[in-house]
Amino acid sequence: MPQFSYYYTSDLPNAEIGQLVSYVQSLGGRAADDRVARQTTLKQKLLGERAKGNQDIIHEWFPTTWRNVKNPLDATQRSLLHGKTVFLTNCVGCHGLQGDGKGPAERWINNPTPRNFTDINAQYLFSDGEMYDAILYGVDGSSMPAWGDILTVNDIWDVTNFLRTVPKGGINREPTADMMVSAPDYKPIQLTPIQTMLTPQPPAPGTGATGQATPAAVPTGTVTR
Ligand code: HEC
Repeated sequence: MPQFSYYYTSDLPNAEIGQLVSYVQSLGGRAADDRVARQTTLKQKLLGERAKGNQDIIHEWFPTTWRNVKNPLDATQRSLLHGKTVFLTNCVGCHGLQGDGKGPAERWINNPTPRNFTDINAQYLFSDGEMYDAILYGVDGSSMPAWGDILTVNDIWDVTNFLRTVPKGGINREPTADMMVSAPDYKPIQLTPIQTMLTPQPPAPGTGATGQATPAAVPTGTVTR
């Protein structure tokens, strides 16, 4: 954004500057109004359902296809240690140094409060894929931000692995795979093999019984450029 100080010293009347500012504000303003309305509605729904004891409402926040997605990264020492670093660098302000949802910002974020990862039921509530979606896009109607512009895909899967160790002390000791709490209904990601690349193709006509292509004739003569 360049400086426009000359506007204020030029002959441009002040009223015109005011109109310009109002116009620019109106551009973002309408979109912002829509966003606020959407977030307010979703927040009311989230809190209203939870007040009735319906914790499962959160599944509506995630695409159903994510429900059965298991973390594609193994919980190696690298993954867990890196996940812990991601957590300590980005998440403790809200989720707390103990992962209990009591970070310094919690006093301003109480509706809903940051998720308490020491609670084993919270771990059972989310599949890996749902955690991934929550971290990638944030959670609408709550203060959980979207991290898609900040963390890489692997950062998100690593921190998901690490979060699973929090109830068993992964935050205070070196996290290890045997500390992990797993979510219930897991299915591994289904990979569809690319058939055309893997299946041998019949030889093209005229290339001989072996299927080896006859080398193309080498052009003779001088190439002029
Ligand atoms: C600005 C505060 C804030 C920060 C920073 C934050 N979170 Fe959250 N997070 C929340 C809140 C609030 C919720 C609870 C949402 C709810 O009740 O559904 C939440 C929920 C979650 C959930 C579960 C989804 C859910 O609906 O409860 C996961 C997983 C999560 N956070 C991971 C992270 C990770 C990983 C980071 C760091 C990369 C992070 N959060 C940083 C506020 C924050």
